[in-house]
Amino acid sequence: MPWGMLTDWVELIVRWTHVIAGIAWIGSSFYFIALDASLKPHPRLDKRVKGEAWQVHGGGFYQLQKFTVAPDDLPDELTWFKWEAYSTWIFGFLLLVLVYYLNPTLYLIDRDIMPLTPALAAGIGVMSLAAGWLVYDRLCKSWIGRNTARLAVVGFVLLVAAAFGYTHVFSGRGAFVHIGALVGSIMVGNVFFIIIPNQTIVVRDLLAGRTPDPALGAEAKQRSVHNNYLTLPVVFVMLSNHYAFTYGTRWSWAVLAAVFIASFLVRHWFNTKHTGRKPDWWLWPAAAVPMVLAAVLTFIGQPGAMAGAGVVKFAQVQQIVAQRCAVCHAAKPSFDGIDEAPKGVMLDTPERIVAQAPRIYAQAVVAKAMPLGNVTNITEDERNALAAWFQQGASAQ
Ligand code: HEC
Repeated sequence: MPWGMLTDWVELIVRWTHVIAGIAWIGSSFYFIALDASLKPHPRLDKRVKGEAWQVHGGGFYQLQKFTVAPDDLPDELTWFKWEAYSTWIFGFLLLVLVYYLNPTLYLIDRDIMPLTPALAAGIGVMSLAAGWLVYDRLCKSWIGRNTARLAVVGFVLLVAAAFGYTHVFSGRGAFVHIGALVGSIMVGNVFFIIIPNQTIVVRDLLAGRTPDPALGAEAKQRSVHNNYLTLPVVFVMLSNHYAFTYGTRWSWAVLAAVFIASFLVRHWFNTKHTGRKPDWWLWPAAAVPMVLAAVLTFIGQPGAMAGAGVVKFAQVQQIVAQRCAVCHAAKPSFDGIDEAPKGVMLDTPERIVAQAPRIYAQAVVAKAMPLGNVTNITEDERNALAAWFQQGASAQ
């Protein structure tokens, strides 16, 4: 078995595990936020119980109650929710290392943006994740964190600043994945450093016969609500890695800002609905506005018509593609670390180049996602020549 196939298998299994753990984590996060919102008080209930909810699922009825601080006695068996979060992060970080840090020249570094060395690029990546958590945690504990709206605005501005920063240091794709990793790390940091430790103190107090501090539960609740609102943009960022037009534009940081706003509004609609109140219908059209703007921003990044370029001969295109693309995109790639034509795209014969013209245009001209990390040093003139050839009809003449 070729070495490349083995590493692909490892990567696939790590990715699979990451996604499954993420589904379990997001699922329980959505579930508990919805459950919490739907709890209704009732005079018949114990005084320490915040409310009760009835649910039907899997052929039976559930009667759920929430003790806001804690019951007097702990049951022998208590289910904790933490490994969904931890394993999502652990496998996500492994994937980041496998795809980006072990192969930074391909996916993480774009020498046209910043000529980083591989070690420096990985170092910046890891340090930025740690710094992101520290800044966020300080913010929540400061006077800013005492008001939810104020915290949301400041947090949003800082996230957009981080996106702007990343897109000016890494390749578009590397920048996007780091925003996802940054927000994901903040979310798992909330579980690891705040929610679980606070709950552990409450349990210890109960066992020792002390009255637990309600502030511990309140802080855990605040962080779990943050996690709930941050879920949607993280999933978008992970998926957008497969859509070069999202990260391939000069305005990619603004695309992220738009996605954050839209996600917040949609999440808010659901969270209101779960309380049993009628959510504001206008939240949906309001969420569509930033998404349309995001789409417009990706169009603005498109090159204009190459009117003055003159007629581009196919021979010239063939030479560019042979020099800048075919080292990877061939039946037998010669580029180190690429064992088979990426995504099955082969650009090694005239017929194949012509057949793939729209994809060549999309990847090498519009999104500038190819050549990966511009490892083959394509020039701006060559990109313009590819653009003009495509716009003139992509002929084989
Ligand atoms: C260093 C190797 C390398 C070079 C050079 C390179 N590519 Fe790629 N290309 C890749 C890899 C790896 C992928 C798969 C990316 C992914 O997994 O999203 C890819 C994907 C693609 C795709 C498919 C994108 C999709 O998502 O459907 C196209 C089209 C493409 N490249 C075109 C080009 C063109 C045109 C050039 C030259 C201007 C080029 N590539 C140069 C490695 C390379």
